[in-house]
Amino acid sequence: MPTATQSAQQAPSTATLRHSLLVRITHWLTFIAFIALLVTGIEILISHPRFYWGEVGNVNTHPIFTFHIPSSRDTVPTGYGYVLPDQNGWSRYLHFEAAWLLVLTGAVYFAYLIATGHLRRNLFPTRDQRSLRAYTTRLGQYLRLKKSAADELHTYNVLQRTSYLVVLFVLFPLIIWTGLAMSPAITTSFPFVSSLLGGRQSARTIHLFVTIALVLFLIIHVTMVALSGFRVRIRAMITGKSTLGAELTTRELP
Ligand code: HEM
Repeated sequence: MPTATQSAQQAPSTATLRHSLLVRITHWLTFIAFIALLVTGIEILISHPRFYWGEVGNVNTHPIFTFHIPSSRDTVPTGYGYVLPDQNGWSRYLHFEAAWLLVLTGAVYFAYLIATGHLRRNLFPTRDQRSLRAYTTRLGQYLRLKKSAADELHTYNVLQRTSYLVVLFVLFPLIIWTGLAMSPAITTSFPFVSSLLGGRQSARTIHLFVTIALVLFLIIHVTMVALSGFRVRIRAMITGKSTLGAELTTRELP
């Protein structure tokens, strides 16, 4: 019986379907929404780079930390005293629109995950992968810049699976919850959305830290894709088709 490596070496060069159309569309829509949220979020942050804990926070209250950058909402003196200038309305509009794109795209993707078994089959670590050793072994291979093994041709390794589960079930729900907790329209009808987090300003501070975690995820995610074979995997995520078997024999075998 051929080993996994021999099978990969003998793999035909015909393309196979690696990602379904729905996964590809929702993946890239999520990425577009995320970049739009990040850019507009930074613009909103610049307008008031002070962070508080609790319900109330403004120029008259004590922040828990401050980014020492020029603020576009610094108070300006006028003949009538100190006033706040324009609050960057364009970035708020675009932030909310991108947030809804993210939520709707996420809802479609979640329905697909559950309905097709993709979650259980491809994103939860397999029985063999559920050990500390599996994590440390794969991490060591990444750190030594070792190319993907043949058994990763059409499946995700344990670090990829775990990072996807963290982003899907921890970071995205938290970023949406903390975002809703800052919306007066939501908190007026459902005050617990914000009070459970300690108040609107606490929600804003947590929102910032979850954003930083998402940016870290993105850096780690793209690094893992690059170490596994960037062009091949990006092509598969765009076209759906994978010729991994053929390419591995010439370029990627360890
Ligand atoms: C916030 C942004 C992103 C999120 C949340 C995200 C999330 C994910 C998730 C959940 C999967 C698994 C999809 C599935 O099978 O259901 C995935 C796969 C993948 N992502 Fe991303 N992604 C993001 C950005 C990117 C970017 C910027 C790139 C490339 C430059 C990228 C390239 C890929 C590739 C190539 C795969 C397949 C990995 C493989 O075949 O080994 N992603 N991503």
